[in-house]
Amino acid sequence: MSTPLRVLLVEDSESDAALIVRHLNTADYHVSWERVETASQMRAALEQPGWDIVIADYKLPGFDAPAALAILQQSGLDLPFTVVSGHIGEETAVALMKAGAHDYLMKNHLARLSPVVERELGEARMRRERRRGQEELRLSLEELARSNAELEQFAYAVSHDLQEPLRMVASYVQLLEARYKDQLDSNAREFIAYAVDGVARMKRMITDLLAYSRIGKNGKEMVAVDCEAALGQACADLRACITEADAQISHGPLPTVLGDADQFAHLFQNLIGNAIKFRSQAAPRVHVSAEQNGPEWVFSVRDNGIGLDTQFADRIFMVFQRLHAREDYAGTGIGLAIAKKIVEHRGGRIWVESEPGKGATFHFSVPASPPEARA
Ligand SMILES: Nc1ncnc2c1ncn2[C@@H]1O[C@H](COP(=O)(O)OP(=O)(O)OP(=O)(O)O)[C@@H](O)[C@H]1O
Ligand SMILES: [Mg+2]
Repeated sequence: MSTPLRVLLVEDSESDAALIVRHLNTADYHVSWERVETASQMRAALEQPGWDIVIADYKLPGFDAPAALAILQQSGLDLPFTVVSGHIGEETAVALMKAGAHDYLMKNHLARLSPVVERELGEARMRRERRRGQEELRLSLEELARSNAELEQFAYAVSHDLQEPLRMVASYVQLLEARYKDQLDSNAREFIAYAVDGVARMKRMITDLLAYSRIGKNGKEMVAVDCEAALGQACADLRACITEADAQISHGPLPTVLGDADQFAHLFQNLIGNAIKFRSQAAPRVHVSAEQNGPEWVFSVRDNGIGLDTQFADRIFMVFQRLHAREDYAGTGIGLAIAKKIVEHRGGRIWVESEPGKGATFHFSVPASPPEARA
């Protein structure tokens, strides 16, 4: 079965046009065509849908192939544009191709026409598919960004609005306990204690969720952040916990990167806080280092704690996901989710290497700053 082919011929000679069409028809195309010989005729023809290819003579009275090519490009249509002409010289042919023509062949070599057309059609199809792929990718990225924004908005609204009713539950349970403690038996007092505990936990989760959904919301400008200073801030905030656990925090040279100083301090605080919390029998030893790896810095926070099974590694970076029981280790399970969001917001990644009983090393990457921003 012959392939339908709709050809727009820019050609002043009727007989040359017929020759081209005959060649294509014998090459198993079923050609439908129109011949134009002026700019306005060509513009009008391009208004019609369904063209597969433009085949143009080089020189026509008052019109030529470069002008026809320009009209095709202005139309925004991505059609193969092939010049079929008498001898035009190599320089002219090269100039035409540079301007965007797809091929050039001479009228006395029309045997080449159908392979050229076939190749051009194939390439045009590939260009279309590539464009469609890029468009689909763009749309799905847009959709992803939109649904992320919606989800964040949702998490923010829910956590914000839940605070009020929770405060009410907390106050009345506490009132019940304070006012009727003496009239209640030990069971009832125990139940109230559970309720108070549950309310406190939920309050912490809501506060955590709110903090999580707020990351990246304040739209602060990025500044040069001295990571050693950010680490110092984190250690100062963890002072009580460091002293209590007799932990030693050491570090190698740390770079200056672009970001938000509070967020970097928060990031270190979460990772070092975990390293101390999930400690083994030995006193915690935590080492923070950084290494430049091409366009990014890779930070490592290594500990000598209980370690974890990395088959659950993806889970621990999700909100409220924990590998250890609340009774054994305090926390809601938000720290690493916050760390992940901070790092990803900065264009980096976070991951963990560990084995149970052998400590854990958390790595995160951030793009290296331009040289002038470095300390
Ligand atoms: N350094 C570590 N060594 C071993 N396990 C860890 C370490 N850091 C994190 N984990 C595991 O990953 C889980 C998630 O950590 P994450 O910091 O998100 O929560 P959390 O510390 O339990 O609670 P929160 O950070 O909200 O106080 C932890 O519960 C723990 O099971
Ligand atoms: Mg934590």
